[in-house]
Amino acid sequence: MAKPILVANWKNYPGSLAEAQRLLRDIAKSRLVYKKLNFFIAPPMPYLDRVRDKAGGFSNLASQDMPLVDKGTYTGETTPEILKSFGVRLAIIGHSERRALGESNEEAAHKIGLALKAGITPLLCVGEKERDHEGVYFEDLATQIAESLAGVKKNDIPKVAIAYEPIWAIGKKAKDAIDPTDLSQTIIFIRKVLTDLYDRKIAEKVSILYGGSVEPSNDQDLWGTGIRGFLVGHASLNARELKDIAEELVS
Ligand code: PGA
Repeated sequence: MAKPILVANWKNYPGSLAEAQRLLRDIAKSRLVYKKLNFFIAPPMPYLDRVRDKAGGFSNLASQDMPLVDKGTYTGETTPEILKSFGVRLAIIGHSERRALGESNEEAAHKIGLALKAGITPLLCVGEKERDHEGVYFEDLATQIAESLAGVKKNDIPKVAIAYEPIWAIGKKAKDAIDPTDLSQTIIFIRKVLTDLYDRKIAEKVSILYGGSVEPSNDQDLWGTGIRGFLVGHASLNARELKDIAEELVS
């Protein structure tokens, strides 16, 4: 069995390099548990090198986005090759907070293509804004997946991971996260969408994570719903909470 996956999405925190170093020192105290996982830290870009230095022995680097360009001269942009050279192995793509700034499924698709070309695992984020009783959100999810994976050939699909992150559950408290039964159903639905797009065997190979208010008080209920790991936002900025979540994944 592959190791469970834990991605710490630090977003634009901690607010200073000094604080980031303190957090890294605290996280490093639990290095033994992180070594049992496929553990990724996705810090703000300027901290990448420091995270590699301080946590490289027990974590992998992830980026919170992928540039839209890979070659050419573009002031203000970086390139997949630069990220790769820093040791970035996974890129969060299509996070709802980027989609809120205007990112489309087509852009996500383009970024997934660039990540695959650079040998970086794309972690595609999908999720509905709200849940209606008629289940229209299932159609939204299917469209996000189909359009974002439009350029991915069948033999590349196992190199892609998906994070199901219902937007209404992001950045809240554990009690506001998704109900585990609803999560199980949604994971089955996502696998069905992948089966329809590719085939069942390939669909099974895709790692699907859950993100949205994962905290130590709900991780046990959410784990065991067919997911292969967590994408954790605010709780990943608290070393104790992150360690508790990691321990649940290896228990
Ligand atoms: P959260 O964020 O854990 O704070 O809800 C998750 C995410 O946005 O990836």
